[in-house]
Amino acid sequence: MKIPLSRAHIPQKAFENINYVLSSGNLSGDGLFCRKVEKKFCDILSVKHALLTSSCTHALEISTLLLDAKEGDEVILPSFTFTSTANAILVAGLKPVFCEIDPLTMNMDMEDVASKMTDKTKAIIPVHYAGVACAMDKLEDLCQSKNIIIIEDAAHSIGAKWRGRNLGTIGDMAALSFHETKNVICGEGGALLTNNDFLANKAQIIREKGTNRSQFLKGQVDKYTWIEKGSSYILAEPLAAILDAEIDIMNELNKKREVIYKFYMKELKELADKEIINLPYIPNDCESNYHLFHLIARNENLRNSLISHLRSKNIGATFHYIPLHSAPAGLKLGNKLTDLPLTEEYSQRLLRLPLYPDLNENEMQYIIEEIYNWSKFL
Ligand SMILES: Cc1ncc(COP(=O)(O)O)c(C=O)c1O
Repeated sequence: MKIPLSRAHIPQKAFENINYVLSSGNLSGDGLFCRKVEKKFCDILSVKHALLTSSCTHALEISTLLLDAKEGDEVILPSFTFTSTANAILVAGLKPVFCEIDPLTMNMDMEDVASKMTDKTKAIIPVHYAGVACAMDKLEDLCQSKNIIIIEDAAHSIGAKWRGRNLGTIGDMAALSFHETKNVICGEGGALLTNNDFLANKAQIIREKGTNRSQFLKGQVDKYTWIEKGSSYILAEPLAAILDAEIDIMNELNKKREVIYKFYMKELKELADKEIINLPYIPNDCESNYHLFHLIARNENLRNSLISHLRSKNIGATFHYIPLHSAPAGLKLGNKLTDLPLTEEYSQRLLRLPLYPDLNENEMQYIIEEIYNWSKFL
């Protein structure tokens, strides 16, 4: 048996859609499937604008370019996130300010966010780790009176909710990911979401190499030209065609993830009771999309030994983000290893188990058996 950490589920309809696109010869971006999928996202997520992009990284970059910020302006983000969240801040010429996590959820600690806000804070980027929402009420309270923009990094969280609201539609802007490892996929892809018409119009120009091609395709202008600074951030039609098939089965895929997540929770309770591990926590006001299953081992040595054991049994268990503040690029920016002790500690204790829709019962049982085999020698 060989069990990867994640495996894409590709519905038959994706193959049909791809054939259709290839036969049509229309392969570039902003075509039939792109428009169709954007409409589906607007309807499913109840958001006014959804712009498909070549990645979540690029959707984040568009959103930071939209901030219209001055040099020296700051953006607060967790250190426990993927490099793209921080890179998007640097690409726009701004300063990333890293904050601490709440170890219960691995999301931003809002008290630490409050302590890091200054007159230069232009935006805050909450990352909804594992598809579980950040404390958005606290964040909204912090930002409201100060005109600070919220950009949700919703890379993990399509289909997840906070107090009934879809993640990715709560802040001023949001970025989704459709990378092969996510809940809804097309290989590489993303989307920028916003309810703001002004930002959406500007985003369309940035996404299309700084031109108004999007208006041209809608017949609103008779030729298109260079309007302002931009880049090439559009999703190609074959990928939008895969996404079209995937989005139709999002609920089914998320349901399958939920079953696996709940199986792990039940089966691992005994180890949690013995305080060998902590299980993940979903606050009452959050509906998860069960993007990933992580546990926190009692210490780093135990975490590493469990990863080694599972890998020796062909189970793709792994760690997750290496904190950004203490990574080489973070240190070059002037951060210190000791700045965020909880982020350092918990990232070293965290372990992810395989979680994907087609993980079957035998495989799930095998993973649990091997975790208990490992625990016998503690
Ligand atoms: C929190 C977070 N943000 C952004 C990204 C970047 O997503 P993409 O690969 O679609 O650019 C990732 C990637 O996994 C991520 O985990």
